[in-house]
Amino acid sequence: MIRIKKRWEIPESEVTPEPLYRRRREFMQAAGTIGGAMLLNPWAAAQAALQIDDYQRGVVTLDEELTEEADATSYNNFYEFGTDKEDPKRNSKRFKTDDWTIEVSGECAKPGTYDFEALMKPFPIEERIYRLRCVEAWSMVIPWLGVPLGSILAGFKPTSKAKYVAFRTLYDPVRMPGQQRSVLNWPYREGLTIAEAMHPLTIMSVGMYGKTIPNQNGAPIRLVVPWKYGFKSIKSIVGIEFTETQPQTSWNMAAPSEYGFYSNVNPEVDHPRWSQKRERRIGEIFKRDTLMFNGYAEEVAELYDDLDLTVNF
Ligand code: MTE
Repeated sequence: MIRIKKRWEIPESEVTPEPLYRRRREFMQAAGTIGGAMLLNPWAAAQAALQIDDYQRGVVTLDEELTEEADATSYNNFYEFGTDKEDPKRNSKRFKTDDWTIEVSGECAKPGTYDFEALMKPFPIEERIYRLRCVEAWSMVIPWLGVPLGSILAGFKPTSKAKYVAFRTLYDPVRMPGQQRSVLNWPYREGLTIAEAMHPLTIMSVGMYGKTIPNQNGAPIRLVVPWKYGFKSIKSIVGIEFTETQPQTSWNMAAPSEYGFYSNVNPEVDHPRWSQKRERRIGEIFKRDTLMFNGYAEEVAELYDDLDLTVNF
């Protein structure tokens, strides 16, 4: 069988973890522009901010060692394929994502059912090296390939009533056997405020380590929100809805006292059953301190200036 390479698949030899650097000053200037403009018209401002070249070229990266690809693709949370960390890889082997479509609805001028491949076509695929940190206190550093979520959302022309964006995973208990058990209220759902959705750090990922995203990591398209706990980064998305009110999210519905809507990585707020101060980077022996906003405080803290983060956890 001939497998046609996807446009965003780069030969492995070209995926270099070096140089891993961060141009903080440029980033800060850009973030400042967004912050100020956001107050006037969030959608227009965010669109303008997305044109900033540095974001588009994906220079926002980290001077941290990458997690081994084998670990990032075999130690997963994806309850649609089982609840043990090794289940998703094993149980998603035959999951087919051909002819994938995404239904766009709610407060926007261009609702409809969009073909995934066609939807992605206009956008350059960038590499962004981000941390993903899970509530269970482990973290990884992964080279994601994706497109800023805001660039995609702007195309649907959200109305001024759209204050939030809700995401939905595929519901198909035959293809996703984990859905035959009611461990969560299926389909998996997540949501972001506009400001979060339009922030240039938020991407829709279609690949990692220079390859198409493996099934167990959320094929064919998943969210990556690097300053939030991993469960916000919803996988295998088939639905996007613009809403006026805060949407329901799976983990918040399952355990509201443990998982809030915001879920920003916050070492100062304990999970009711454990501390969130320290974490284990997969591949390392000793724990390290967890950073506020997963280390992205300079870029995103201002989004929450008006919120008490111990209440809005
Ligand atoms: N998305 C769906 N649809 N179902 C899930 O069970 N698990 C979440 C998130 N997205 C999950 C999901 C959790 S808890 C985490 S930590 C991350 O995916 C894990 O992403 P990774 O397996 O690529 O590291």
